[in-house]
Amino acid sequence: MEKLEAALAKAREMRRAAGDAPEIAPRRAVTRSLPTVGWTSALPEMSPQPARMERNRIAAFLGGRDAVPYDMLRSRTIRILKEKEWSRLAITSPGAACGKTTVALNLAISLARQKDLKVMLIDLDLRRPSLHKVLGHNVKNSFHQVLDEQIPFEEQAMRIGDNLIVAMNATPSRHPAELLQASRTGEILDEIERKWQPDVMLFDMSPMLASDDNVGFLGNVDCALLIAAAESTTMPNIDICEKELAQLTNVLGVVLNKCRYADASMGYDYTSYG
Ligand SMILES: Nc1ncnc2c1ncn2[C@@H]1O[C@H](COP(=O)(O)OP(=O)(O)O)[C@@H](O)[C@H]1O
Ligand SMILES: [Mg+2]
Repeated sequence: MEKLEAALAKAREMRRAAGDAPEIAPRRAVTRSLPTVGWTSALPEMSPQPARMERNRIAAFLGGRDAVPYDMLRSRTIRILKEKEWSRLAITSPGAACGKTTVALNLAISLARQKDLKVMLIDLDLRRPSLHKVLGHNVKNSFHQVLDEQIPFEEQAMRIGDNLIVAMNATPSRHPAELLQASRTGEILDEIERKWQPDVMLFDMSPMLASDDNVGFLGNVDCALLIAAAESTTMPNIDICEKELAQLTNVLGVVLNKCRYADASMGYDYTSYG
């Protein structure tokens, strides 16, 4: 763990010294005046089953000791978002099955436990959408149809409680790369953000090494978290992806997931953050 942290810090330092980290132009902040009370009331409610949440490792939903690492991740995330006036955070990983969806949903639920925060979680892994499966909800429509301008956002968005909105996909998109890179996608997200004024928008993305879906999209977010799986992601792959991410957006940190030697029973720890 410490070795990995030191290796990442060294790689980052070398990149900085080589002038390899471009300035990321800030996005224009959205004015937020909508109150949290009643924020989601127009949307249909979804009530995830605790047994399914336990099976799918959504500890933040259940609370208790296993939720603590996610609460820590939440606190650090909020601190940085507030400090930098950022709202959009993408969650990606080098390869598949590192735990992006698991971390994204846990973080969204943990954030939404702060009742003054309006939180939105959007499934943008348009090749292998899985948020609906983890939540155990049979969705009829898909968020990619919103990006394709076939349906309005409100026709597929659902709420969990009063201050968390989730946008899921019933099916994969037939043209994920084109959709994610389209400039219209950026405009649609801006329209959603202007209308709903979420304090935090989380995007559950596809893996970086499997396709270039994320490359054109990441200019639409303020920052990104890279999720690595302790047992399967190699150090060179973490380094390659962190470097590529840093060219596209601000890297909030690297989360080492599936970590058997971490204290928490969820097997999750930070390698580096901020
Ligand atoms: N910390 C963890 N410890 C053990 N298994 C995990 C952990 N995080 C996620 N998983 C499991 O790994 C699998 C892939 O996780 P998922 O979040 O779907 O990954 P991704 O979205 O990156 O493809 C799921 O079965 C999930 O329950
Ligand atoms: Mg996923």
